[in-house]
Amino acid sequence: MAAAGNDGLRLHVVTGKGGTGKTTVAAALALALARDGGRVLLSEVEGRQGIAQLFDTPPLPYEETRVARAPGGGEVLALAIDPAAALIEYLAMFYHLRGAGSILNRIGAIEFATTIAPGVRDVLLTGKIKEAVDRRDGQGRYVYDAVVLDAPPTGRITRFLNVTADVSSLARMGPVKSQADSVQRVVRSPATAVHLVTLLEEMPVQETVDGIAELRAAQIPVGRVIVNLRRQPYPLPARIVKKDVTEALTSVGVGGGKAVVDGLVAEAAAYRERVALEDRELADVEALGQPVTLLAQQPGPIDRGALLALADSLAAQGFPPAKAAS
Ligand SMILES: Nc1ncnc2c1ncn2[C@@H]1O[C@H](COP(=O)(O)OP(=O)(O)OP(=O)(O)O)[C@@H](O)[C@H]1O
Ligand SMILES: [Mg+2]
Repeated sequence: MAAAGNDGLRLHVVTGKGGTGKTTVAAALALALARDGGRVLLSEVEGRQGIAQLFDTPPLPYEETRVARAPGGGEVLALAIDPAAALIEYLAMFYHLRGAGSILNRIGAIEFATTIAPGVRDVLLTGKIKEAVDRRDGQGRYVYDAVVLDAPPTGRITRFLNVTADVSSLARMGPVKSQADSVQRVVRSPATAVHLVTLLEEMPVQETVDGIAELRAAQIPVGRVIVNLRRQPYPLPARIVKKDVTEALTSVGVGGGKAVVDGLVAEAAAYRERVALEDRELADVEALGQPVTLLAQQPGPIDRGALLALADSLAAQGFPPAKAAS
């Protein structure tokens, strides 16, 4: 089966400052990747059930569950990866522990898994993602064309993905170390990209700048910067003259008292200032040298229709690149 898109990417990690739209963008990207017959896994790791909320489904079990069909016949499955369940699955796999779940429950491993050193916890979470990326069916074909991760925020992403460094002190725990190493091979491969979602505001842009520097220093491949909630710029005259505003209001039959005119002029000035600020932030984002994708604010709540519109917008900007005609 061909990879979704022709850029060779199989693992898309979506990070960004809290509240900038990571979950929304990850879901839209999954839909864009699933178009025309793709099979895509959308996963989350923070126990927030953000995906279920977005797709308006019951909380996701630790089991891949279809949450959407994509235009052209593809599908998006979702998985909320939970460290305790990942630990049980992992132990069952590596030590062939049958009924590991019940034994572990008895000895309190569930609690262990949720209170273990963050480094080990991250190996369990990223290890499950790596397993989904690499999983093949009986014919040796990838089960998923692509995996999209709704990831921890920018401030924690490098550490989350850079698991080897964190577990090196626990290296004697053989299988954990080798699991971490195999995660690293996937994370640092050309099949992986970390995308950063930002708004055109000072704080999220600064986090994006810092986050990209950290990822680059850790040699983790950086993909796109997705500018979310982009204001639609509409042209204003260079100078707004009150007399013109009064005339314009009169010409459309709206009474333009002084207060109305002053209010409109002040609003226009504030709008102009916000647009100028956004333009400066956008210039900083573009200076980072990564491809930039713009997503407009959707009117109304983010339902399936809005997600599809966002997926269309991503695809129209070459993200993911159109599949090569075969
Ligand atoms: N392009 C958009 N148009 C309109 N609303 C949007 C858009 N993107 C995100 N939102 C809204 O903004 C809010 C935050 O988005 P989202 O939950 O995806 O952010 P997040 O980065 O995942 O947040 P958190 O850090 O809490 O996980 C949500 O209410 C979402 O519906
Ligand atoms: Mg979220």
